[in-house]
Formats: sequence, structure tokens, C-alpha cells
Amino acid sequence: MLKSKTQISWLDDVDEKGNIINPNSDIYGKNITGEVLEYPSASGSTVGSDRIVNLARRGHAPKKIIIEKVDPITIWGALLGRIEIEIKGKEKKAVDASRLEKLGVENEIAEMLAHAGEVLGTDEFIKADYVQIAGVSYKTITETGLELRRYFGEKYRFRAKHVTINPAGMDMLDWKSYNVPESFARKQEEIIEIYMRMGAKPTITCTPYLVSEMPEPFTDVFMSESSVVAYLNSVMGIRTNRESGLSTLLYAIAGYGPRYGLHLKENREPRVELDVDTELKGMLDFTLLGYAMGELSKGRVPYIRGIKGMPTLEEFKTMGAAGAASGSIDLYHIEGVTPEAKAKMISLDNIEEKITVTREMLNEIKEKLNTGKEEEINLVTFGCPHASLEEIKEIAGLLAGKKVRQGVELWVCTSRAMKEKASELGLVKKIESAGGHVVADTCMVVSPIEEMGYATTATNSGKAAKYLPRFCKQNVVFDTTEGIIGKIVEK
Ligand code: F3S
Repeated sequence: MLKSKTQISWLDDVDEKGNIINPNSDIYGKNITGEVLEYPSASGSTVGSDRIVNLARRGHAPKKIIIEKVDPITIWGALLGRIEIEIKGKEKKAVDASRLEKLGVENEIAEMLAHAGEVLGTDEFIKADYVQIAGVSYKTITETGLELRRYFGEKYRFRAKHVTINPAGMDMLDWKSYNVPESFARKQEEIIEIYMRMGAKPTITCTPYLVSEMPEPFTDVFMSESSVVAYLNSVMGIRTNRESGLSTLLYAIAGYGPRYGLHLKENREPRVELDVDTELKGMLDFTLLGYAMGELSKGRVPYIRGIKGMPTLEEFKTMGAAGAASGSIDLYHIEGVTPEAKAKMISLDNIEEKITVTREMLNEIKEKLNTGKEEEINLVTFGCPHASLEEIKEIAGLLAGKKVRQGVELWVCTSRAMKEKASELGLVKKIESAGGHVVADTCMVVSPIEEMGYATTATNSGKAAKYLPRFCKQNVVFDTTEGIIGKIVEK
């Protein structure tokens, strides 16, 4: 039996042979193959369930998983990987699949949803009109994931009305310019074709809320991209659990998903208070606060005090993404700012712990995330989560009259829709004339940058800085947008 008090990020804490490779884990160095594995819940990436299925197919999965908290990433990975799963202290609930079949859900999918409902402890299913599907990059889902998508793609179409999809592993129109291996590109094209055939919109972004229709606040949706989940719940007041790539695929097919977790008011109450005792300036400070929030909250919903004024969209975006990656922040409240806190819809009676966030804590995180040397940077990436028009404008402005030095590639990652807007405003040309690129449909984490010859990546994103070392084998230079540009332009 392997018992851990640390959450597991299945994307970058476990290697392909089942070894725990996160040095901060209390089971670092151990192998999970064939074990009974007990841990609190999964943190970070929502393609974690694909990673679990992948381990199962390769014979490196645990034989049983015990988790403390309802966690769809682990649950769906275990269900589709045929691994025994138990939630500590939670009774399984009998769920009758025929109720879903009466709603028009195909038998096979109804059975799977009913099985998930049993483990999740709910027999209530609600309409899934808005669904974001993660598990789009071939790098993250690998061959096992592609086989699963082929299987579902041949049999089913989406019944959900608005299905958006996460970034792919490459710029779908311009991959040849980026040294992407041809074999990877063909697999990636197949994945996108499957999703399109099933009825997804070709958004290919982790910021669907910037380019696609979103519902009213306090509506229930089903989203599987950890940064989208944090943004929708916290900033827009739209209710979603941190679903897995596979669960959202099945809910989109069914047109229904289970009502549990953050769909219920009682689970949206804060349990930990974070008092920010330092002034926050700009995106880097907010990404550091997000990172700290993930580490300190330990799976609980935080209530944040001490933030002056209204953060910008970009600050909210990077803060939630960092918190989702460093811990498992699916929802946070900021006093007087975020919708439920502002409308006083939440009670503060259940706060278990109060923690002060100091400048020293943020500085320590910045230091910890910096693992690379300035002179060794060969890739610079902005846009995690995908860049907004404001960020693209800022970068174009900072690059004006400058040239990216030889041996360094600069990517501004964004959605195709945002790239088109930026192009109309002449921003893409400005970035290109300084030697950079605006890259659509992908990002530094889900594209195969380690196979493209990069070893040291500079980023302004706490989320990217978390995943780049282990998942992409990169040294990381982590700084403000301005600080990074200052390091990589010709002097
Ligand atoms: Fe998006 Fe890639 Fe970051 S999917 S949130 S840009 S790791």
C-alpha cells in the first residue's frame, strides 16, 4: 500500500513507468504499479484522467485507488482504466442508467454516467449545454487517448449545444514553420477532425470565455481545463467542477452531466482565508499570488482579503491558472470583487484557517520557479492562458524598435480568433518584424517543445512555470513580460 498526503498531478508528477517524479511529493521515488494508492485528490491538469488510462493500458497503474475528496480526474481515469476506486467514507449510491436512457442518452454512455454517478454519490443529472473539452493535444493524450477518441468519434455525435475544445499540440495551419515532427502533426490533425465531426466548435483555446458565447452567471456548465474552471467559477460566477477531458467528452455526447461538487451551493463556501499583506502590481504578482493560493489552500475554497481595486482580466486569468496548477483551485472568492462575494451569497462561518500571504512568500515562489539561466534561453513563450488582445498589444509595444537576439524563438500563444483580431490591428506584423511569432491553437506546454530542440524556456506564467520542468523537460526563466523581453532582445 502506498499512502500519500500530497495531491497528485497526473500530468507531471508520474512518469510513463509509474514512478513518482515530483520531489515535493511525500512518495517521491516510489513506483505505483500494482499498488493500492491512497492520496487526497488530483491537482492540476484535467487531462490527468487520460494519463491514468494510459498507465493502465501500459500495465503501470495502481490496482486500486483510494481518494479523500470527490475528484472527477481520478474517478474518470479509474473508471475508464478499469481500476478499482473508492472515496474514503463515502457510500456508493445506486444509480439507474435507464433514467438517462429515457432522456435519449445511448445505453453505453448512460451506463458509464450511471457508474460515475455511483462513485460521485449523485443520481441527479442536468443538461450539459456548455462543455469545454480538454485532452486535445496528441502530446497529452498520446496514442491511448487517440484510440479512445476514435472509438467514441465513430459511434457518437455531441448532443450538447456549445462544445468548445482546448489547445492542440501545434498551430493547425502553420505547423510546418515550427519544426513539428510530421508524425505528430498527422495524429494531431486526426484528433481535431474527430472533435469537429462530433460537433465541436474549432475554438482550440483555453480561453473560450474570450472568443465564444458563455452563459449567464449562476448557470451550470461542464468544463475541463483547469484555468477555465477557475475563471468561470470565480470571475464569472458560472458553476462547474474541474471535470476531466474524458468526462466532458462523455457529457457532451450525452447532453447531460452529474450534479455534484461545485454545482451545489454548500460546496462553494470558503474554508480558508488568505489575507494578502502586500501590494500587488501587475500580472506577475497575481500569478505568484495564484501559485501561493494553490499551495496554501490544500484543496479548500479560499476567501481572499487585502486586494485593492479590481484586478484586470489578464490578472484574474493568470492567477486562477497558477492556483489550479500549483494546487487544485477550482473556485476562489475575493472580498467585494468576485460575484458571489460581492453579492454576499457565501457564508464565512466555515473558515477553518486564516493565513497571511506576505511579499517574502511570493518572492520565495518566484525564486523556486526560476530554474534556468538567462543566457541559455532559447524559447520565450507568453500567453498561458492564451493571450488576450491587451497582452498582445503590450508585447507588440515592448518589442517596438527591437530585435529578438539570434538563437531565441519568441511565441505569443493565443487562439486563432484572437490572432485574427491582432492581425487586423497590425500587431502580428509588429511582433513578427521584431523576430517573434503569434502562434495560434497551441501553447508551450502542450506542444512537443522538447522534441523541437528547446531546453530553456522563459515565461511570465506561473502555470507554465509549474509544468515546463517535468512535463516538457525545460529549465525555466520566470519573470515579468517586460523583464523577459529585456533579457532576449539584441543590446
Ligand atoms: Fe492554456 Fe497551455 Fe497554459 S492550455 S492554460 S496555455 S498550459
